[in-house]
Amino acid sequence: MGVRSFKLPPAFLTLFVLVHLRLALGGVIPGVGVANNISCPEGERQALLEFKKGISDPDGWLSSWGSEDGKKNCCNWQGIRCSNQTGHVVQLQFYFLGGMISPSLLELPYLTYLDLSENDFNHSHIPEFIGSLSNLEHLDLSSSNLSGPIPHQLGNLSRLQYLDLSWSNLSGPIPHQLGNLSRLQYLHLGWNNLTNSENLEWLSYMSSIEDLVLSFTNLSGANDWLEVVSSLPNLKTLDMSACNLSLMSFSPFSQFNHSKSFTSLESLQLSDNEINDIPKFFGDICTLRELGLSGNNLNGQLIEHINDLFGCIKDSLVVLSLAENQLWGSLPDFAMFPSLKEIYLSSNKLNGTMPKTIGNLHNLEHLDVSLNYLQGVISEAHFSNLSKLLSLDLSGNSLTLEFDFNWVPPFQLDELYLRSCKLGPRFPNWIRTQRNVTILDISNAQISDTVPAEWFAKLPPKLYSLNISGNQIHGQLPNVSTMSSSELKFDLSALKFDLSALKFDLSANRLEGPLPLFSTNVTSLNLSKNRFSGPLSPLCKINGWSLVFLDLSDNLLSGQLPNCFMDWPNLLILNLANNNFSGKVPSSFGFLLMLRTLSLHNNNFSGDFPISLKNCSNLRLMDLGNNRFSEKIPAWIAEDLPQLIVLILRSNKFSGSIPWETLPQ
Ligand SMILES: *[C@@H]1O[C@H](CO)[C@@H](O)[C@H](O)[C@H]1NC(C)=O
Ligand SMILES: *[C@@H]1O[C@H](CO)[C@@H](O)[C@H](O)[C@H]1NC(C)=O
Ligand SMILES: *[C@@H]1O[C@H](CO)[C@@H](O)[C@H](O)[C@H]1NC(C)=O
Ligand SMILES: *[C@@H]1O[C@H](CO)[C@@H](O)[C@H](O)[C@H]1NC(C)=O
Ligand SMILES: *[C@@H]1O[C@H](CO)[C@@H](O)[C@H](O)[C@H]1NC(C)=O
Ligand SMILES: *[C@@H]1O[C@H](CO)[C@@H](O)[C@H](O)[C@H]1NC(C)=O
Ligand SMILES: *[C@@H]1O[C@H](CO)[C@@H](O)[C@H](O)[C@H]1NC(C)=O
Ligand SMILES: *[C@@H]1O[C@H](CO)[C@@H](O)[C@H](O)[C@H]1NC(C)=O
Ligand SMILES: *[C@@H]1O[C@H](CO)[C@@H](O)[C@H](O)[C@H]1NC(C)=O
Ligand SMILES: *[C@@H]1O[C@H](CO)[C@@H](O)[C@H](O)[C@H]1NC(C)=O
Ligand SMILES: *[C@@H]1O[C@H](CO)[C@@H](O)[C@H](O)[C@H]1NC(C)=O
Ligand SMILES: *[C@@H]1O[C@H](CO)[C@@H](O)[C@H](O)[C@H]1NC(C)=O
Repeated sequence: MGVRSFKLPPAFLTLFVLVHLRLALGGVIPGVGVANNISCPEGERQALLEFKKGISDPDGWLSSWGSEDGKKNCCNWQGIRCSNQTGHVVQLQFYFLGGMISPSLLELPYLTYLDLSENDFNHSHIPEFIGSLSNLEHLDLSSSNLSGPIPHQLGNLSRLQYLDLSWSNLSGPIPHQLGNLSRLQYLHLGWNNLTNSENLEWLSYMSSIEDLVLSFTNLSGANDWLEVVSSLPNLKTLDMSACNLSLMSFSPFSQFNHSKSFTSLESLQLSDNEINDIPKFFGDICTLRELGLSGNNLNGQLIEHINDLFGCIKDSLVVLSLAENQLWGSLPDFAMFPSLKEIYLSSNKLNGTMPKTIGNLHNLEHLDVSLNYLQGVISEAHFSNLSKLLSLDLSGNSLTLEFDFNWVPPFQLDELYLRSCKLGPRFPNWIRTQRNVTILDISNAQISDTVPAEWFAKLPPKLYSLNISGNQIHGQLPNVSTMSSSELKFDLSALKFDLSALKFDLSANRLEGPLPLFSTNVTSLNLSKNRFSGPLSPLCKINGWSLVFLDLSDNLLSGQLPNCFMDWPNLLILNLANNNFSGKVPSSFGFLLMLRTLSLHNNNFSGDFPISLKNCSNLRLMDLGNNRFSEKIPAWIAEDLPQLIVLILRSNKFSGSIPWETLPQ
């Protein structure tokens, strides 16, 4: 999967952004107090001290706010800025604190800039009195854990130019009084639970608006949405993703004066709505650089929709997202959009072949046509001029990739997804040239070749997700040790896939010989369905803090388990089924406190019921079947493993009775 419209739970993203910001700021609140000869009026100083009483500040970030001698001038306080002419407090700004917004703000009548974003206001409502801070030009309460409605009093802030209330858990209707904010240039209300049950007429009064984000607002009642937004003369960015929009009720459409539509628009995001047609006049938006219509109800032939966009958009368009629709037919000749850098067409019903003309898009950086019905052969010609390509996703089609063995691509990819393309039978030599790759998926690609041992021994240094499963790759795997995950930890770009990723999936091949050394911080390791033999001990080298998933099932592994499981405290899933392991379960299983799924099925384990499992209180599934465990089934199973849902013990030498009465049904 490439980059396209993706949804994360708001809370998750907020949390992440918060962490990210904290790091960026190094925990320091940016102070805007300026030491000069101006001193703030006593009344405003008192108001700020009163305001501070409502704020919980356990770490003393606001310690410069005080009445002691050295702190008398509030113009020097953290987060405060005064007018350099009058000394009045004009700006108030801090992050990562919380509490309540006290009405003492009203005694700061010259306040023009109020930024309390990223604070925790404990689900309180936006106070109505903010509407009386009549000099405000900038108001930011985003991501500050509020709730309730937007007070209509905000419509009184006639000087407001910037209003951000996104990610704030607000609900209820958007007050039409906001339409009185005729100087507003920036309005972000997205990622709340707001509605707008009637028309959007109020928006048409905001003639200064340049940047409008209403995503995740229910606008299903607003049949006039396109007419209204398209007539905003200064609009540059519009995001109405996931707003329940349709064009069904769109009869007045043809009556617009299209020549006056969207005269400044650069980015139009309408993903995840119920739109079933691309209005023809979109092709005449000469300024448009980004068009996002993923996740709608577009159907018919892609080529026809593209041909309809015959206007001046051709020269301006840089990003085209039409993923997750019902478009079919072959790919058009995108060369008529010479500026295109990003094309997202995943999850449609495109069939036919890939035109070679795509190779002429010399600006192309991201191409995603995954999960369609494309067929035919892809060759060097398809990539002839794509020297800037960074991500390529051809997964889930019926495409065959045939290149000269010594082909050196013109690009250095960052992400490459070729799942279920036909790449084999030989291991594609050109992949060795991709030294910048971070994610590589060549699973189910009909490769039946020996292990590219020298490539494995020196994997691309930034690679953090490798999937070669479902091929016929055979031979011995060399030791894998060159990968480094430390630098990925807080890389925002890694977030779009998986926060804790360092994944190897080498399953369902014909790999053989002893397990290799993985001296890395691997998170997920799947070596199942191969022919690995010998003991598990080489894996003890894994730096286990991040190991969450380990699947070694369906191999020829044998011997006693080493006692090294204490090094893997975060392991959730451990599958050792269908091998020849023998002996006792080691006591270090008792350190697997997070373990949820354990399968030892079909080995030769013996001895008592493993008492170390008593500690694994998160176990939900435990399969000990087809082994040679003996002795009694202990009563503590029911007591100490309260989450257990599936317990398989069959084909052992257990005796005694299972404490059924306390096990969940
Ligand atoms: C601040 O005031 C002092 C005396 O009151 C004066 O000497 C100084 O030049 C002033 N500084 C500025 C930047 O105006
Ligand atoms: C006063 O502040 C304004 C903007 O905040 C700045 O442009 C101006 O240079 C400042 N004047 C003095 C004398 O510092
Ligand atoms: C949060 O609000 C509740 C009432 O809604 C109150 O009891 C609690 O003290 C508040 N917590 C903080 C930290 O302000
Ligand atoms: C938001 O406030 C609620 C109520 O006080 C609290 O339970 C919750 O932890 C807060 N959430 C965040 C992300 O601060
Ligand atoms: C908002 O402005 C109107 C006049 O336009 C005034 O009557 C009303 O009291 C104001 N509301 C607030 C909360 O200041
Ligand atoms: C949003 O606010 C409501 C209270 O109005 C609260 O019940 C709910 O948990 C909040 N949701 C989030 C994600 O904070
Ligand atoms: C603007 O404010 C006036 C007076 O408060 C009000 O009558 C009018 O409805 C408001 N305009 C919009 C678009 O809400
Ligand atoms: C959004 O608001 C509606 C009613 O206003 C409520 O039924 C729904 O549960 C809310 N959804 C969320 C995710 O808070
Ligand atoms: C959106 O609002 C309409 C009324 O305007 C309502 O019928 C519909 O249920 C709402 N949809 C959601 C998902 O809340
Ligand atoms: C593509 O699909 C359409 C509709 O199912 C079909 O009519 C057409 O023949 C297909 N084209 C090719 C090249 O398979
Ligand atoms: C790898 O990417 C970096 C930027 O992330 C770039 O500077 C470098 O040239 C790339 N390496 C190759 C071989 O293209
Ligand atoms: C593993 O992670 C640790 C910190 O958690 C880091 O110091 C170390 O460099 C990492 N090792 C590798 C091989 O990435």
